[in-house]
Amino acid sequence: MIVLGIETSCDETAVSICKNGNILSNIVGSQLIHSEFGGVVPEIASREHEKLLYNMANEAIESAKIKVTDIKGIAVTNGPGLAGALLTGVSFAKGLAMGLGVKIVSINHLEAHIIANFLERDNLNFPFLCLLVSGGHTQLWLIKEMENYYLLGESRDDAAGEAFDKGARILGLKYPGGPEIEKCAKGGNSDRINFPRALIHSNKIEFSFSGLKTSLLYYMDSFKESNDCNLNDVAASYQKAIVDCLISKMKLAIKLTGVNTISIAGGVAKNKLLRESLAKNFKSDDLIFPDLKYCTDNAAMISYLGELKFKLGKESKFDFSIYPNFHPKKN
Ligand code: KG4
Ligand code: ZN
Repeated sequence: MIVLGIETSCDETAVSICKNGNILSNIVGSQLIHSEFGGVVPEIASREHEKLLYNMANEAIESAKIKVTDIKGIAVTNGPGLAGALLTGVSFAKGLAMGLGVKIVSINHLEAHIIANFLERDNLNFPFLCLLVSGGHTQLWLIKEMENYYLLGESRDDAAGEAFDKGARILGLKYPGGPEIEKCAKGGNSDRINFPRALIHSNKIEFSFSGLKTSLLYYMDSFKESNDCNLNDVAASYQKAIVDCLISKMKLAIKLTGVNTISIAGGVAKNKLLRESLAKNFKSDDLIFPDLKYCTDNAAMISYLGELKFKLGKESKFDFSIYPNFHPKKN
């Protein structure tokens, strides 16, 4: 079955074609325009999606070497995310599905990030743990089987990606902050500053990153006059504090669930220190790292999950809504 997937939940406009579990095309347009504002401007994101979607859908079809009439289903993200941005993708998807006379399925962005791990290893066995670390979420999931997910715990406040983004802004680096801090941390001494690792000793699966960002702010303020501060050391220490928290809760999740297979998902899953630390702390046979291009927002994960849903007999009625603030029920 050939499925076209659309992702517009934040500042990435993305379209992909999946055929029988294989990604035939994966077109992602990152909206660089937000970088000059130090973060995503919702209204600009929606307008950019509108501008880009038509051409990107054609590009995805062309590069997949299929005809538009070969498409048998449309999958589209309907939450969580920015309301206006979600609406542009959902409206476009509904119009396309109606025009082609094919079925449509709405996709939860978080589920798609998790299921992106199957793009890396299609023989991945249930159950497994998934650390979902993106710009909006930091959650630890127990994935029992398809469509049976248990939220073990999450951040009380900022997400790990948000900590990178806000930290970068304090350090005068560009948006998105994760890759910038990672670059700046190269060669820096990560033991130089002992930033707080909130909740690291609690025996609950929970995270908190807002105090870390404040601590960075105070640290940088103390150098305002003197300028005597090594940015590489600061970035390396800050990055290490975030990664330490993530690793410690992964260890706790393994202890509490007895499940040893570990996967990661979301934009922060691109982070090299996080990947290296996971590799150092856990057996490589138990670790699944999604390909870098499937970590940050993309539509391959949407078209792939969409096809799986269609195969399970799922489809959406055309009047489905968007869910900007979707939050999973805690089991
Ligand atoms: O999954 P994603 O593309 O969008 C959301 O669903 O939020 O994640 C974006 C987040 C941003 O906060 C960005 O700073 C972070 O992922 N990120 C990284 C890296 N690349 C992207 N964080 C740390 N290290 C990276 N290399
Ligand atoms: Zn995402």
